[in-house]
Amino acid sequence: MFFFSHIVIALAKTKLPKFPDSYIGDKAEEYDSLKWMQRNQKRTTLMTINYLFDEKLGKTNYNLEEDLPLNILDLGCGTGFSSDMLVEFGFRVIGVDILHDMLSKANKKRKMLEINKIMLILADINNLPIRNHSIHFVTSISAYNFITHEKHGQRNKRMIVNNTAKYLNKILKTDGRIVIEFYPENDEELNLFNSSFTENGFEGFMIKNNPNQRSGQIFLLLKKTR
Ligand SMILES: C[S@@+](CC[C@H](N)C(=O)[O-])C[C@H]1O[C@@H](n2cnc3c(N)ncnc32)[C@H](O)[C@@H]1O
Repeated sequence: MFFFSHIVIALAKTKLPKFPDSYIGDKAEEYDSLKWMQRNQKRTTLMTINYLFDEKLGKTNYNLEEDLPLNILDLGCGTGFSSDMLVEFGFRVIGVDILHDMLSKANKKRKMLEINKIMLILADINNLPIRNHSIHFVTSISAYNFITHEKHGQRNKRMIVNNTAKYLNKILKTDGRIVIEFYPENDEELNLFNSSFTENGFEGFMIKNNPNQRSGQIFLLLKKTR
């Protein structure tokens, strides 16, 4: 029994995606071809769009029916499953990813489908080339916790997440909102990310759809307050 549970744990561990190995070369090709991945990313994007307008964040100045297209930044857009869904909803999307292997697939689909409401940028979430006060909403699906990849030490990580939150605050318009879906490793990591926003001009709350999971899927719902 002990041996068996070790195998299960080992299998579960090997299935967790690793950055950047899980998204380079053949792995990028495989990622883009997985139907279940496409379904998951699109379902999560749909939840994220709903959370952007969650009543508990208060009334928003924007109305999806009248004000579209609104500018939305998709951080870590990968091969474009999430960005495509945002375009389908009528947003004007800026998709950002750090890996050419992933972004080039999103670009190929954009050209093939002649989607013109999407702009793709090869960039690091920690260093975005976006104009101040130009974005209505920011989303990030299954990517945000990678921003501390290879950053060692709590102080160093805190500096990175704080700088990124400050920058997101600058590029958002007044009343701008952020929804981040991600998989923090533990409570310490979750608190690090959450406080980077609450200490830098955002307020909001988090949703954990499976409260029994120690680490697992989390949505951070945030609105800009200053
Ligand atoms: C799970 S995948 C993509 C998910 C994407 N939402 C989709 O629909 O396909 C995570 C992505 O985050 C990107 N990523 C990781 N760290 C990043 C960073 N610092 N800046 C930009 N993109 C990053 C990876 O290159 C990868 O494509």
